[in-house]
Amino acid sequence: MKLALPIVLACIVLGLAARAPSIFAGEESAAAPGDPARGEAIYTHECSGCHAVNQTLVGPKHCGVFGRRAGTVPGYGYSDAMKQAGFVWDAKHLDDFLKSPITYLNGTNMGYAGLDSAKDRADVIVYLREAMDPTNCTLTASKAAPKPQAADTQGR
Ligand code: HEC
Repeated sequence: MKLALPIVLACIVLGLAARAPSIFAGEESAAAPGDPARGEAIYTHECSGCHAVNQTLVGPKHCGVFGRRAGTVPGYGYSDAMKQAGFVWDAKHLDDFLKSPITYLNGTNMGYAGLDSAKDRADVIVYLREAMDPTNCTLTASKAAPKPQAADTQGR
């Protein structure tokens, strides 16, 4: 009989622990900074007319862009504004730039109005960070290959 109480307590504790992950999972997704799958869809729709992972189109290739100094893909003809930007692409710079490229980097050649929604920008940025990581780029390139995008949406 003396053992019964600890066992009952243990069961209650285990029961709570088992329920905890679902509670935490709910909070985590609500607070998540960005959704890479959604980001990929936005990227395909908004960016891939001008950008590819491993290929120069109208815009420079994006493989490795997160953490790279702006305007430094070898052989790409950047605007002076981009060449002289001087910063490294991190979440903050990408967010400011993608909100309104022309306002943020006066003189950029990126003829794109921008992504108004902060959520859209966060999702694209997470996608850029993960999918364009140099260790993932080859994989992303082969995955992206079956759906080539028309390059006629340049809008400039
Ligand atoms: C109309 C064509 C076009 C579209 C659409 C476009 N871009 Fe660009 N992008 C460019 C061009 C051109 C440049 C080079 C800008 C310069 O030299 O000033 C560029 C440059 C960039 C750079 C800087 C790259 C580097 O190497 O420093 C980033 C980051 C970028 N684009 C992200 C995006 C994202 C994300 C989207 C979609 C939300 C997008 N772009 C949509 C044409 C485009």
